[in-house]
Amino acid sequence: MTDQKNPLGLKKIHHVEFYVGNAKQAEFYYRKAFGFSRLAYSGLETGNRETASYVVRQSRAAFVLTTPLSGEHAGSEHIRQHGDGVYDIAFQVEDADFAFAEAVRRGAQSAIEPYDMTDENGSVRRAAIRTYGDTIHSFISYNNNNGHNYSGVFLPGFTEQQIAGEDVGIVLVDHMVGNVELGKMETWCNYYRDVMGFERYITFDDEDISTEYSALMSIVMSDGGHNIKFPINEPAEGKRKSQIQEYLDYYKTPGVQHVALLCKDIISTVGKLQANGVDFLRVPDSYYAEIPARIGEIDENIEDLKRLGILVDRDEEGYLLQIFSKNTQDRPTVFFEILQRKGCKGFGKGNFKALFVSIEEEQAKRGNL
Ligand code: FE2
Repeated sequence: MTDQKNPLGLKKIHHVEFYVGNAKQAEFYYRKAFGFSRLAYSGLETGNRETASYVVRQSRAAFVLTTPLSGEHAGSEHIRQHGDGVYDIAFQVEDADFAFAEAVRRGAQSAIEPYDMTDENGSVRRAAIRTYGDTIHSFISYNNNNGHNYSGVFLPGFTEQQIAGEDVGIVLVDHMVGNVELGKMETWCNYYRDVMGFERYITFDDEDISTEYSALMSIVMSDGGHNIKFPINEPAEGKRKSQIQEYLDYYKTPGVQHVALLCKDIISTVGKLQANGVDFLRVPDSYYAEIPARIGEIDENIEDLKRLGILVDRDEEGYLLQIFSKNTQDRPTVFFEILQRKGCKGFGKGNFKALFVSIEEEQAKRGNL
């Protein structure tokens, strides 16, 4: 029976898989810089002749970093086109067969037909649909009616291989933002509405945020429980080239722009990330003088926020603290956000103008403004 609010039976984001040029080095970066721990591995040594894949996890955030081992693998074309980037935003679902069939019935394009992933620890069921660009959504189900049962650490095909990182306090993936082409934002919002039953997330930000400065428009789509949030951006005409257009010029198709990682103590988390060498965008110091008038009382010391470059925004229900990394590969494409929510359900709209200055500076350095 179909639940109108959650027609595909989505439970949570299971993991995010990146295709990268060198998974061995990427794993080292996410472990040493972002504080993830290695959990599992799949590659030549474990009988996988196709790819090398490293699973890294920090609390409830799990990434898979995959490099194809030959030029013929589909992932090689993904990397040739896009550089390092997100390939799969994978959901854990009640029943992968049902989720896939229902998604296709509701208008999704098939990417991978349902199949068993199996190894000596048991099996799970997986299928996938396409979303914007070359990005897919996998559906993964455990313990469904077909007798699947799995007792391993991650997924069949992966061998447990633990190397602890120094946890920086990242808890989970809060949201993932997709950049789509000019004029396609509504199409993709409708896709998440029609296929997944998502709704426009009613927040402070729930308007097009097109200004002459921000040069983008954004709508947030979310499931009924607001556990899974997918803002969709499209470029807008501004005085200068939109940062979204710069992304599209280098990613070549729509794709994931940023992955937002939630933490509980952003001053501690960002302090550790900066000590580890992660580079963040900074706004002018004058931003911090305006916080008391713009935001009101906050628990944090403004000097700490200023020292670390952390931004603050507010909605009717509270405030949030956030900071954006610089791009984490040489193409000006994917980056990360670190955020902490103190009641606020928004995405930092109030910070956009301040951020625009530093985003434009970076674009200008690249000759892309
Ligand atoms: Fe964000």
